[in-house]
Amino acid sequence: MTAKQITDNVYFVGAADYNCRSFHGYHTPGGVTYNAYLITGEKNVLIDSVKAPFTDEMLERIESVLPVGKIDYIVCNHAENDHSGAIAKAAQLSGAQVYCTVACAKLLEKMYGITGCKTVKAGDTLGCGDYTLSFMPTPFVHWPDNMVTFCEKGGKKILFSNDAFGQHLCTNERFDTAVGAAAALKEAKTYFANIVLPYSKQAANALDAVIAANPDVIAPSHGIVWTTHIPDIYDLYKKLCGDYKQELALVIYDTMWGGTQKQALQIGANLEQSYSTVKYFNLSASHLSDVMDEMCFAKHIAVGSPTLNGTIMPNVAALLCYMKGLKPRGLTFEVFGTKGWAGGAEKEIAESLTEIGCIQKG
Ligand code: FEO
Repeated sequence: MTAKQITDNVYFVGAADYNCRSFHGYHTPGGVTYNAYLITGEKNVLIDSVKAPFTDEMLERIESVLPVGKIDYIVCNHAENDHSGAIAKAAQLSGAQVYCTVACAKLLEKMYGITGCKTVKAGDTLGCGDYTLSFMPTPFVHWPDNMVTFCEKGGKKILFSNDAFGQHLCTNERFDTAVGAAAALKEAKTYFANIVLPYSKQAANALDAVIAANPDVIAPSHGIVWTTHIPDIYDLYKKLCGDYKQELALVIYDTMWGGTQKQALQIGANLEQSYSTVKYFNLSASHLSDVMDEMCFAKHIAVGSPTLNGTIMPNVAALLCYMKGLKPRGLTFEVFGTKGWAGGAEKEIAESLTEIGCIQKG
């Protein structure tokens, strides 16, 4: 395994996990990548790492550029396992100083016993001889410990954005130009819907700061690196963080013997009179990740379940649980369902959706 050059003196040294199909519940049919980056210069810096089972792959890629022992600093932008799994090994082999936020340092100690991290706050910089790193905490994009790191070198500004602007797009290609804007933006949207959505407000603040900083390259810790299509990913994030909606309604249901599906099709036909697009999701055949992706830009959802043993179907319960965590905004809803018992599913769905913040209509 060798490193792949991103810009002058910046290399991808991460790993492709082609077999990952569930990223904490988010369906990833094409796998995921864990992007670590190596910056070489007067000081050599490792930015983030990989999930623990991919440690050797990361080390091999680093060794294709320089001996691991030559790394001077390690920046950990986020302690979640997919980025921190190889930090302890890299620090032990190199003796490098780890830099991270206070919250991240606490997590690294708890998770791996790593102590002595240098903690940074907004605006702190780290001189690396012929270049400088600067740090911007972005709490809750995705965990409370997150930050992003800027690197200014040779007149170019690179943003190492960690989870922000990421996509679960697993390919040996490294750039937006290689996979094409449409594919990269599609995966960036699904990623936002399933990971970043509950933190839209924090993401909006981070987005403003990033746009003001005007990086030439954005290198996230998942998926491809943004170069040519930076304005496009900004536009997408503005929509996802804001109130943007399309004339889109979703009919989401599960069915026992086909009765609720019959209702779903009738409700959908009615909705087609008011919305230019109506999409149908039978939860026995569709993954919640895809439903959530569509929910970002939808205006209305119709959710249906037959009453089963006095409650809702398990797939519908899973939908409501997933929505409760991801907190989709700006949705009206209606409910439907058949009943072989006294009923109760519709009431339960309505209560849950109201608690999530959706507004009942019809
Ligand atoms: Fe990619 Fe929040 O970790």
